[in-house]
Amino acid sequence: CGIIARIGHGNAAEPLLSGLENLEYRGYDSAGIAVQNGSGVKVHKCSGEVSRLKSKLDSQPHGNMGIGHTRWSTHGPPTDENAHPHTDTAGDVAVVHNGVIDNYEELKASLRAEGHEFESDTDTEVIPHLIDEYRAETGDTERAVRRAVDVLEGSYAIAAIVDGEEAVYAARKGSPLVLGLDDEEWYLASDVPAFLERTEDVIYLEDGDLVVLDPDAYRITDLDGNPVERAVDTVDWDPEDAGKGEYDHYMRKEIHTQPTALANTIEGRIKDGDVAFEDLPAGSFEDVECVQFVACGTSYHAAMYGGQLVREAGIRTEVLRASEYESTSGPVDENTLAVAVTQSGETADTLDAVRTAADRGARTLAVTNVVGSTAAREADDAVYIRAGPEVGVAATKTYSSQAVTLTLLSQRIAGDVPTATAADDRAAMLEALADLPQQVETVLETSEAEPLAADTIDSESFFFIGNGPAHSVALEGALKFKEITYEHAEGFAAGELKHGPLALVTGKTPVFAVATGDADGKTKTNAIEAKSRGAPIVAVGPDDHPLVDIADAHLSVPDTHPVWTGLLANVQLQLLSYHAATQLDRPIDKPRNLAKSVTVE
Ligand code: G6P
Repeated sequence: CGIIARIGHGNAAEPLLSGLENLEYRGYDSAGIAVQNGSGVKVHKCSGEVSRLKSKLDSQPHGNMGIGHTRWSTHGPPTDENAHPHTDTAGDVAVVHNGVIDNYEELKASLRAEGHEFESDTDTEVIPHLIDEYRAETGDTERAVRRAVDVLEGSYAIAAIVDGEEAVYAARKGSPLVLGLDDEEWYLASDVPAFLERTEDVIYLEDGDLVVLDPDAYRITDLDGNPVERAVDTVDWDPEDAGKGEYDHYMRKEIHTQPTALANTIEGRIKDGDVAFEDLPAGSFEDVECVQFVACGTSYHAAMYGGQLVREAGIRTEVLRASEYESTSGPVDENTLAVAVTQSGETADTLDAVRTAADRGARTLAVTNVVGSTAAREADDAVYIRAGPEVGVAATKTYSSQAVTLTLLSQRIAGDVPTATAADDRAAMLEALADLPQQVETVLETSEAEPLAADTIDSESFFFIGNGPAHSVALEGALKFKEITYEHAEGFAAGELKHGPLALVTGKTPVFAVATGDADGKTKTNAIEAKSRGAPIVAVGPDDHPLVDIADAHLSVPDTHPVWTGLLANVQLQLLSYHAATQLDRPIDKPRNLAKSVTVE
């Protein structure tokens, strides 16, 4: 979910609504705003996207302060009633919330006993009722908010407005909240893009912060009411980057701007033929005996890609799904480096895994796109992938930038660890990286993915296979395909195809075989086995790869060092998914049931 609040001297509705549109990547099941202008708190909300909310507003709601929310359902289906903001029984206190309140059932029961009535299935609705209850007891809203958050168990970023008060109250614990400071107005939001067009001066709030905004001032305290000082940061993202530009969809824009994103990722990171990361001086990894990568979704696939090179250097390496960390992690001690790979830096599963690793003594490192994100702030060190803002729910450019960053990081770690062995062709690998942005451009200009998507769109299932580094590319290709086309797609290690999935292979199941280099002999053998059962084979790789000879179609990538080939193949697969989803008329940037940043476990 995404929340926003605004207070200032002009009308709040327009900045709230445009802010919500910029936050829709966090969820788009339902949307709502509440404004206050001295004649009561007015709530407007409905299921569906922000555009639906806008079309339902007869006129612009009037008021200089307000709160807004765009929802990704956790408790209760996406209905008008479950949309935020939620209010107390009298409708005097309105609250928006991102997070999960674990003890909401107990709280609801005791509030009901006091005569409070509830309208929704959400956990959030207890919060305005609690604030109302404590206001009645204390006569002081700020104290009431403090007491309310004190009884909440779970995670929250909340913002509240109250009838008759020129103030916005907000608090955070475990869910992101950032304050935007403009000359004329203050903002609070789950993420910077909500107000990036209006100000670039921000304060990243910490867990336990409580904020009170009035039209002329902001005040941050801890939960006991003691003043807290937080530094003001300047965000260096260009608001233009956050828009769609000339493209129909954010996803298309983000695919097509990968050459620039990659150039930014690489800039300054190779010096004198060696890998350099600012803030991570040479030698900083010399005590590392085990590297654990923890990540979800696309970031997990990027971690697989980069993690492989750490393993090849002879360092114990685990690439773990963050949501399964507890049951899959090997032993952890102070010589373990836990690397959280997360575009947003806010994925609850990933944060939880890396916190567990830290509790067990690991040193932590965040590899993320978002400066000031929770992962970046909590980890011992942070490395930024510098891809620029990504809005499309299906990650594209950030995968490429993550994979490159992690590959470079693997070389830095291997360079520091005394027992590690450097890759024989390390110099050639680093040299080839300089050409990668231009080679991605070549793929974008010459890709045959669009006609291929048209030829294959009527298939029953879509299989993606690869081995070695190409395995993770196959998994990512399948994930992207299912996310945005809603077609059945699966990725497999090439050699696993014959151990079960082959039962599904027919003439209506194209197999996309990712070829990255000499290491993937198994892919050809297994592709031939699928071909013998009638499956059309699409080779995705360099022209001279042996797979091309047996394939029915080919998505070509330029020759490069084998370490980078998979990234070029992935761009072809991004285009394939994009064109297939466009031909099926899917909502490319907002696939059903998904959200870009999942801040609940
Ligand atoms: C969500 C998104 C995925 C993303 C994953 C991890 O599930 O829908 O596209 O890969 O979260 O996000 P992160 O921000 O941690 O990389």
